[in-house]
Amino acid sequence: MANVLLKNITKIFPPSASKNPDSDAANPAAPDPATPNLRSPDLRGPDSNQPVLDNINLTINNGEFMVLVGPSGCGKSTLLRLISGLETLTSGDIQIGDRTVSTLPPKQRDIAMVFQSYALYPHLTVYDNLAFGLRRTLPTASYDTSSDTITRPNRVESTLVGLTRNLPKPLRYESQTERTIAKRIRSVAKMLQIEPLLNRLPKQLSGGQKQRVALGRAMARNPQVFLMDEPLSNLDAKLRTETRTQIVSLQRQLGTTTIYVTHDQTEAMTMGDRIAVMNQGKIQQVAPPLELYRQPANRFVAAFIGSPPMNFLPVTVRAQQLVHERFTLALPQIWQSAIAPYSNQPLTLGIRPEHIAIGQTPTAIPALVTQYEALGSETFATLTLETTLPTELSQLPANPLQIRVPADQPIERGSILQISFPPEKIHLFDTQTEQAIRP
Ligand SMILES: Nc1ncnc2c1ncn2[C@@H]1O[C@H](COP(=O)(O)OP(=O)(O)OP(=O)(O)O)[C@@H](O)[C@H]1O
Ligand SMILES: [Mg+2]
Repeated sequence: MANVLLKNITKIFPPSASKNPDSDAANPAAPDPATPNLRSPDLRGPDSNQPVLDNINLTINNGEFMVLVGPSGCGKSTLLRLISGLETLTSGDIQIGDRTVSTLPPKQRDIAMVFQSYALYPHLTVYDNLAFGLRRTLPTASYDTSSDTITRPNRVESTLVGLTRNLPKPLRYESQTERTIAKRIRSVAKMLQIEPLLNRLPKQLSGGQKQRVALGRAMARNPQVFLMDEPLSNLDAKLRTETRTQIVSLQRQLGTTTIYVTHDQTEAMTMGDRIAVMNQGKIQQVAPPLELYRQPANRFVAAFIGSPPMNFLPVTVRAQQLVHERFTLALPQIWQSAIAPYSNQPLTLGIRPEHIAIGQTPTAIPALVTQYEALGSETFATLTLETTLPTELSQLPANPLQIRVPADQPIERGSILQISFPPEKIHLFDTQTEQAIRP
């Protein structure tokens, strides 16, 4: 266990660099994080000298589960690969515990990485896949089983292992290292419920089982830090939900500092102690899940966290009111000083689908139901506010709004709902900078 410190991290790829496979599904031949692989040139590659990561500063606390979330191409995998040592920094520093590891090779960083592609050795059994990392880090040393620590190489043992290597398995001499490895593998296999699979080859496993073996391989190494790059995205929805719960509880049990990459905001919200939201190589906000949901720092975070995303409407500030072309919203007193500088200026009003109120009230406005999705437990409807405009104007692009409707409320396409925006639930953003304005 250790904390991880990322200081002023910048990464610029040289124009001709080719990408390494990590999260790509078609990557069965990348079995170990310590072995960088070449990948074909990436068409999404940045312009030369354009930072893929731009001055990243982040502290991941000892034992914390930190999620990096952001859209495809924002630099999540690159950041993870820099921490693991599979990529080199352009500038900045990485510290794990009290060691600066920026220039150390992956093997010496005491991390274990889990990839989306599982990256298991196809010709090794599950047992040997789990043992692989341990044997690599402890090639000749022997282990003290009671204290679980390495002791100096034992010549007698090595000779016995060599002499009995070609005998049938029950007659072979098993070194103390192998016995300790076996002990560790059995305990990890038990935790992940993969004991019955230890003698199988990866091709004899389901996707979920492969995923657990990949996780087990990382756990068996008992590293200071786990790095996980979209490890669940090859699983079907049900298994993904189950496995994410399992990963979180294993991480709690082990207490190993974990950095987990995903582009799925639900995964981020349900797994992270804290979440770092990234966009275009920059960290937008770092906060616990509910703080991100309740107090997004900017429009990007507001739109990214929450599903369906927050609605945004252009408004103008007039006195203590927000004026939209279809409605006027009086703001409570607490907003007074925050919106004072925006008098007669445009602002962006944000409201989440689940916060729009339905029902006839003095301030309600009519909205036309254009689409809806009934999920059983709830319904999401798309509304437009253009219903009362003259016909020629109704051809203008509408202001579609997503709204959550209680499951038992009847709803029809073409019907009108009376909606209102509870002032205590609204968010405001500077239209130019997109930064949140707080009351
Ligand atoms: N080796 C490389 N050479 C050149 N460009 C690269 C290389 N690796 C990554 N990039 C570029 O850096 C940017 C960030 O890539 P990265 O793989 O980190 O994104 P990501 O956030 O993990 O995306 P995804 O969710 O799709 O996995 C992309 O524009 C990508 O094309
Ligand atoms: Mg990635």
